[in-house]
Amino acid sequence: MALLIKGGYLVDPSRNLEGLFDLLVENGKVSKVGRNLKPPPGAEILDARGCVVAPAFVDLHAHLRDPGYTYKEDIESGSRAAVFGGFTTVVSMPNTEPETDDPAVVRYQIMRAAEVGLVRLLPAAALTKGRKGRELTEFCALKEAGAVALTDDGTTPTDEALLRTAFEWAADCGLLIMDHAEIPALSRGHLNEGKVSALLGLEGRSRAAEAVAVARDGYLAQITGARLHVQHVTAKETVELLKLFKEKGVSITAEVNPNHLLLTEEAVLKYGSLAKVNPPLRTEEDRRALIEALADGTIDCVGTDHAPHAPHEKERPLDEAPPGMLGFQVALPALVALYNEGLISLRRLVEVLSTVPAKILGLHPELGTLREGTVADVVVFDLKKEWVFDERTNPSKSRNSPFFGRKLVGKVVYTIKEGRVVYRFGA
Ligand code: NCD
Ligand code: ZN
Ligand code: ZN
Repeated sequence: MALLIKGGYLVDPSRNLEGLFDLLVENGKVSKVGRNLKPPPGAEILDARGCVVAPAFVDLHAHLRDPGYTYKEDIESGSRAAVFGGFTTVVSMPNTEPETDDPAVVRYQIMRAAEVGLVRLLPAAALTKGRKGRELTEFCALKEAGAVALTDDGTTPTDEALLRTAFEWAADCGLLIMDHAEIPALSRGHLNEGKVSALLGLEGRSRAAEAVAVARDGYLAQITGARLHVQHVTAKETVELLKLFKEKGVSITAEVNPNHLLLTEEAVLKYGSLAKVNPPLRTEEDRRALIEALADGTIDCVGTDHAPHAPHEKERPLDEAPPGMLGFQVALPALVALYNEGLISLRRLVEVLSTVPAKILGLHPELGTLREGTVADVVVFDLKKEWVFDERTNPSKSRNSPFFGRKLVGKVVYTIKEGRVVYRFGA
């Protein structure tokens, strides 16, 4: 089945291409990019006038909660939320039940996602058994089963000797290490350590918790040669450290989440537990530093940290509610907001959601590009479209987001995976 995407503004940073081009998809591949393309007989035509056409988004950080916490989300609802946000490739986090620390769980996740058929699910496996930080998992067996990265996301190991071995093994078997860089002993609270925690009389999570962990991880990557990806960067000190390690040529990349680009610790006063996330929302100064770092490449990309939790869980008080917010649905609107403020270019918007995360994965040279002959994973989005994030639009099983019920600007109109339309706005 052929598909002709007509009249859109194509942005493909992988080959420096930007302009009004039609895109023809045949047999699941990009077959032609050009002007005034004619549809082959029987082709479906998608009208993309007024919209941007880009390689589909790639998320390096999402919690699909399957197996074990399927009352929050499962692979099916999570896949629907992903394509709603323009993502066709998703790296899932291992804090499931059972934990994703065994090849059988990795195989189940890949098989289930294939059955659902909406996204390419690439599991990240746990770095340590049960994510308890005591015993390493079987890296090579996990890789063979299909895991693309290792992380104890939600926490980080505190045994540096174990971690060093982990980096060595990961380098040996060519797996990416991702880290939730936040030293637990320095982050016992439920929000940023600062003005708002003082006001509420609550213990805060220190910004040093992140900087210390990133310094530790960066030097371990340096001495072992492992590839390191820092998850959810929140503090300006981390940006300084990333610059340092990158200048030294260490193999380090980093992501920022939509939440930290849009909100600060003040949100806790307005939204309570809905604004609880780990690492926490920080200050306006941090937020500005993150945006600047994302624009200049010090922070490589955006990861959503899509973290669904049920209403009865997020309705608990700040010190009892689980941390986390939905991410797939707000990633594009977050970046469109920065674009509208003139803080990032359209090209960079596409890079941080698609080209760069695809490159970090490294395994899939066909992703994050619209070059002829590559797999046709395409997103069509409208920079101006206003929509309301509410019960009617939300495909997730959960609705834990400070943006729920609000009007957002910037919407994915079509998501296409391997030449098949897997999401249409309003359909
Ligand atoms: C995540 C979750 O809910 O699993 N929560 C969060 O606040 N980010 C865990 C994590 O990403 O650390
Ligand atoms: Zn985390
Ligand atoms: Zn996470």
